[in-house]
Amino acid sequence: MIDDIIETEECQLTDPMDLFHSGQVVKICAPMVRYSKLAFRTLVRKYSCDLCYTPMIVAADFVRSAKARDSEFTTNKGDHPLIVQFAAKEAQVLCDAARIICPFADGIDLNCGCPQRIHEDLKRTVDLCQKAEAAGVSWITVHGRSIEERHQPVHYDAIKIIKQSMSIPIVANGDIKSLKDAENVHHLTEADGVMVARGLLANPAMFAGYEETPFQCIQDWVDIALEHGTPFTCFHHHLMYMMERITSKQEKKVFNVLSSTSAVLDYLNDHYGLG
Ligand SMILES: Cc1cc2nc3c(=O)[nH]c(=O)nc-3n(C[C@H](O)[C@H](O)[C@H](O)COP(=O)(O)O)c2cc1C
Repeated sequence: MIDDIIETEECQLTDPMDLFHSGQVVKICAPMVRYSKLAFRTLVRKYSCDLCYTPMIVAADFVRSAKARDSEFTTNKGDHPLIVQFAAKEAQVLCDAARIICPFADGIDLNCGCPQRIHEDLKRTVDLCQKAEAAGVSWITVHGRSIEERHQPVHYDAIKIIKQSMSIPIVANGDIKSLKDAENVHHLTEADGVMVARGLLANPAMFAGYEETPFQCIQDWVDIALEHGTPFTCFHHHLMYMMERITSKQEKKVFNVLSSTSAVLDYLNDHYGLG
């Protein structure tokens, strides 16, 4: 919480552009409402994630209310590099939110509307990106689907065309589920970074090269979540995502309806010796 940080510790801010200048593809945890919070960011950073986004925060609420600030944003010394994502309709409100957050974040991101991403007419998307570049944005993340597309394949070719039309870094997003996918998408798009949402929910260790969520990562989540006082629903939901592939239908029926931290810990201990 912002006020606590002011009292207790100074944030060591970093320049995320250094990552893009390193010559390596930048591995990024996507903004995810309810999920990409401090505890989860701590976990994915442990497993080779270079840069994390907060969940989307409504800038107007953030500016207006100290209560909203405290509930929407928590950070600590190790939580860098960090990008705070805002949703804002008015430039002044976005500026005000940025001014409040700037001592604690390494950058801000403007949510330009999930799922409005690429346009059917790619020229319009390129034009929009070029306008954003001219306005001074540091980089742009592109999800390679149009508004109508939900489950269709991601248009990595479109991301490549956008990348080739821009001077600033471009980050590719969509359907990356493993480090191999990340390398493949980098190869197909020439993007400077890859951003992952659902792949990291299912396997927070994917950027470190694990094909499946290792048990150690589940144990780490339990430790980190408990240390951060993560609310039960969030704690439990993350475990459901992480354990999706290793639990049978029958096991899910039992695990997914558990209703307390102690019941979850008992389950993990009984079945996997974790917890
Ligand atoms: C649970 C969840 C929450 C999300 N919340 C946000 C958000 O707060 N802001 C945003 O721009 N996108 C949000 N997204 C979209 C993701 O950042 C990402 O663009 C999308 O899931 C496609 O990437 P993926 O194929 O790696 O999942 C969310 C996605 C998921 C699954």
